[in-house]
Amino acid sequence: MFNRFYQKIAGNRLHHWLVSLPAHIQQWQQSHLHGEFSHWQKTLAALPKTTPNHIDLSKGVFVGDKNDINDGEFKRIENLLKKFKPWRKGPYHIHGLHIDTEWRSDFKWDRLAPHISPLKDKYVLDIGCGSGYHLWRMRGAGAKFVVGIDPTQLFLMQFNAMQHFIQDDNVNLLPLGVENLPELKSFDTVFAMGVLYHRRSPIDFLYQLKAQLVKGGELVLETLIVDGDENTVLVPGERYAKMRNVWFLPSCDAMVGWLERCGFNNIRVVNTDITALDEQRKTDWIDTESLQDFLDPNDNSKTIEGYPAPKRAIFIANC
Ligand SMILES: C[S@@+](CC[C@H](N)C(=O)[O-])C[C@H]1O[C@@H](n2cnc3c(N)ncnc32)[C@H](O)[C@@H]1O
Repeated sequence: MFNRFYQKIAGNRLHHWLVSLPAHIQQWQQSHLHGEFSHWQKTLAALPKTTPNHIDLSKGVFVGDKNDINDGEFKRIENLLKKFKPWRKGPYHIHGLHIDTEWRSDFKWDRLAPHISPLKDKYVLDIGCGSGYHLWRMRGAGAKFVVGIDPTQLFLMQFNAMQHFIQDDNVNLLPLGVENLPELKSFDTVFAMGVLYHRRSPIDFLYQLKAQLVKGGELVLETLIVDGDENTVLVPGERYAKMRNVWFLPSCDAMVGWLERCGFNNIRVVNTDITALDEQRKTDWIDTESLQDFLDPNDNSKTIEGYPAPKRAIFIANC
């Protein structure tokens, strides 16, 4: 399934990954495939082949337009892609079909893009990349080789569906967790957005991120934060905004302190933002609840559990 990726990295600076990656992926294929995996593969295989008259990854993810295909193909693409619900991260525009995802991931991109080092000709890694929306935007910003990792297999299918139309083998998604990465020390920029609060050991996580960067490379870390001083860290109870797997929400100053302790330098907080109801909302492409349902109906400044509502910050640092 990933032979083309192995061939690509055999000829680039990631070739040392070949020592462990194929065996790891093989083990994953043998024992960790999702029960729906073979159905999903059939859905992917049924997508019509198309010839987009243009692809624009610089202002969004825009692939061709409606005139490239006939009405039957349009309907077929829509029906097949809806089998991969819930579509959380996007949006995508495929031959005029607007995949209106739960999240406007372009808002996050717009918040960080002015602050990061230019991606032109860079090797870039996105840890916890979801369906890969930001991978396409990284490539659109000129990155030479883009790798995303995410253990959620439905997101791999959504990525593969987009790859079916875009066909760019310099953009890749592997079904791995951060804990499956060896110390690659190869990427110019590592993104880790929306993942730290899902990790039970955030300090270990920061070391894992650092281990992927070349010396002097750039980390772009986005995470949920709370207001407070350098000693403030919220560890919520069983749920935060109905999510079960949320562990540590530091203040900005506490997060900066963690980055310092892990040996990062030149640490900057470039943006803070309260997640708004137009950034995360229910659409036709998800059947589940969304932000409005996770907030206190009488006071949107609080989650339904009474914690501060989701507020996010973007940190940039060098290693
Ligand atoms: C909140 S989403 C963030 C997606 C995207 N980075 C963004 O900012 O929009 C968190 C992602 O982390 C992924 N994830 C969960 N555990 C992970 C792990 N151990 N290693 C890497 N990614 C993980 C999830 O599958 C999910 O796609």
